[in-house]
Amino acid sequence: MNLGKKILPPILLAFAVTSSACAETASTSMMNDAIISNKDKPVVWFNRQPSNSETGEPDYDAITFNKHTYYVGADTEQGAALQGEMIIKYISECDSSLDRNGDGIIGYVLAIGDDGHNSSASRTRAERKACGTAVKKNDVIISDAVELNLDGSSNIVQDGHVTLEGKDYIIRELASKEMKSPDGATWNADAAAVALDEWVKQFGDDIDVIISSNDGMGLKMFDNWAHSNGVPVFGYDANGDCVAAIKDGFCGSISQRAEVQAYMTLRIIRNCLDGVDANTGIATIDEAGNVLNEADFYYADRERAFKALNLAVTEDNYQSHLDPRATYDMVSHQLDAKTHPRKKVWINIYSDKDDFLSQTYQPLLQQYAYTLNLDVTIVIGNGYDESSITSQLPNPSEYDAYAINMIKTDHAKIYMDLLSK
Ligand code: BGC
Ligand code: CA
Repeated sequence: MNLGKKILPPILLAFAVTSSACAETASTSMMNDAIISNKDKPVVWFNRQPSNSETGEPDYDAITFNKHTYYVGADTEQGAALQGEMIIKYISECDSSLDRNGDGIIGYVLAIGDDGHNSSASRTRAERKACGTAVKKNDVIISDAVELNLDGSSNIVQDGHVTLEGKDYIIRELASKEMKSPDGATWNADAAAVALDEWVKQFGDDIDVIISSNDGMGLKMFDNWAHSNGVPVFGYDANGDCVAAIKDGFCGSISQRAEVQAYMTLRIIRNCLDGVDANTGIATIDEAGNVLNEADFYYADRERAFKALNLAVTEDNYQSHLDPRATYDMVSHQLDAKTHPRKKVWINIYSDKDDFLSQTYQPLLQQYAYTLNLDVTIVIGNGYDESSITSQLPNPSEYDAYAINMIKTDHAKIYMDLLSK
């Protein structure tokens, strides 16, 4: 499948990265040139939906902070379901050699990203549902880690079943863990490497499949052990390095369409600053020809959320996903700087150790900033302490808009207070 991506020439990219240096006008006036206080400026929360980290319930105060506030992310349920289907399809098509130690159990281990992040919880639920290992509590699949379940006695998961070459096998979640660094950074690839190391020492022969909530952790486990032991690994994000590893045996990943999300993040800001409908160049074509397809995203009104629709990336189609940092040609048409004058946008990335955000999302933001005439300042947090980000926004008044990727999904108020001062 050709996704129709396009790469900006290096010269343009260089301009985009250092774009504040080549601003045509440094005007901070906006939205019909009125003097606007920070609390009324456009805010796009992205990748980490403001929500209760216990229940996943959206934080409606954050999402309605002002009339120019939105969330941009992926449809977490749809993407997680795709990952689950990919895993069970792969397992069901294997022969009996998938059961490496011949004990009649297809044992998998699961690297969980962040218990308090609704994408992570959806992925755990969908993986368990697909493998038949899910257990429900109050009608909702439990997404907690099991720690160890070698004998199948856990009450957080149950044994599933699959038939390979006419023989019935148990599918068992042998172990799962939230992968946090010692200082508390979630979705942590090093933590996944440490955990796998421990698991291999304790019960390496039992591990037949590795499931990871994201590619960063998955690739680390693939490189460190799974690849050389012929154990299939499934990830999520379709980062370039993981997609490239598919030819070496990395089993598959899910593209959450960073090239669509990064565009929407900045395009909504552009639209709010221009005082036009938020959907301009998104659901409706703009004067430069930018528009997304229906299959790329949808808008969830109640959550004020623009959600990208995910795609599975496997051996069958990985060649058209080898460069996830290429912008999407449907929305790569340069805006006219006269009608869309340069504006200054502050953006943060929650962690310096997150492969998806730093490897895939950030370069896309930089390229789209160029296309949309936005001068972006991107600051990076440490992944565990919100003040590592807020301290890098000493004077919010310097910017026309903000795109926020907070560390903890229930910390939106910290940013709202900062903008309301
Ligand atoms: C990605 C993860 C990433 C996380 C950060 C998720 O959508 O799949 O790779 O670590 O976002 O919030
Ligand atoms: Ca086995």
